[in-house]
Amino acid sequence: MQPILQTPRLDLRPAALADADALWALWTDPAVRRFLWDDRVISPIEAADTLGDCLALAPKGLGLWVAEARDADAVVGCAGLLPVSTAASYDPRLAGLVEPLVALTPAVWGRGYAGEMLDALLAHAAGALGLARLAAVTDVPNVASDRMLQRAGFDVLGEVPGPRYRLRTYLWHAPPSSDAVER
Ligand SMILES: CC(C)(COP(=O)(O)OP(=O)(O)OC[C@H]1O[C@@H](n2cnc3c(N)ncnc32)[C@H](O)[C@@H]1OP(=O)(O)O)[C@@H](O)C(=O)NCCC(=O)NCCS
Repeated sequence: MQPILQTPRLDLRPAALADADALWALWTDPAVRRFLWDDRVISPIEAADTLGDCLALAPKGLGLWVAEARDADAVVGCAGLLPVSTAASYDPRLAGLVEPLVALTPAVWGRGYAGEMLDALLAHAAGALGLARLAAVTDVPNVASDRMLQRAGFDVLGEVPGPRYRLRTYLWHAPPSSDAVER
C-alpha cells in the first residue's frame, strides 16, 4: 500500500477521493496545466477519472500523494509514481518503467519543495518498491522540471518529438546500496 511519505517540510499523504476538488483546482491552474496537461483545462470529471486511475495503483505502492506543508497545514501540490503511459509511444526505451510526477501550486514555487518531494518519491521507489530504475519525461521548454530531475540524479536519455513540444526523456538508477532489483 501507499505509505505516508515525509520530507523535511512536507507530509505527502496518499490521495483520496475527497481530494478531487483540490486536485482539479491545482491541475487547472494556468502555470501548472501548461506542461502537465498540455495547457488543456480539464473538466472536474476528467480530474476525478485521473484520480480514480491513480487510486487503483495504491495496492502496488504506486499512485498519487497530496503534499501538505507541515507549518501551514495547507495543500501545496501533489506527487506521483505512475507507470509510463503515452510517453513510451514516443520513446520506447521507457516502456514498462515507472515515472515520478511533481506539481506545486505556483505560490510556493522556488522554495525547494519540488526537490524534497522527488527525493521522497525516489527513496520510496528504491526502498519499499525495490525499483532499480525510474523513467522521467518533460516537455523541453519545462526548464524547472528539467532542473528538478537532473538535480535529483536523473540522466538525460535523449529528445524525441512529442504531441505538443519536443520531449526530453530521462533514466534514474537506484543507488547500489538500496535493495532495488532490475526489472
Ligand atoms: C516542476 C515544479 C514542480 C518545480 O517546482 P519549483 O518550486 O519551481 O522548483 P524549484 O524552485 O526547486 O526549481 C527547480 C529548479 O528549476 C529552476 N527553475 C525554476 N523555474 C525556472 C525558470 N523559469 N527558468 C529557469 N530555471 C528555473 C530553479 O532555479 C531550480 O534549479 P536549481 O535546482 O539548479 O536551483 C513546478 O514548476 C511545477 O509545479 N510545475 C507545473 C507542473 C509540472 O510541469 N511538473 C513537471 C512534470 S513532472
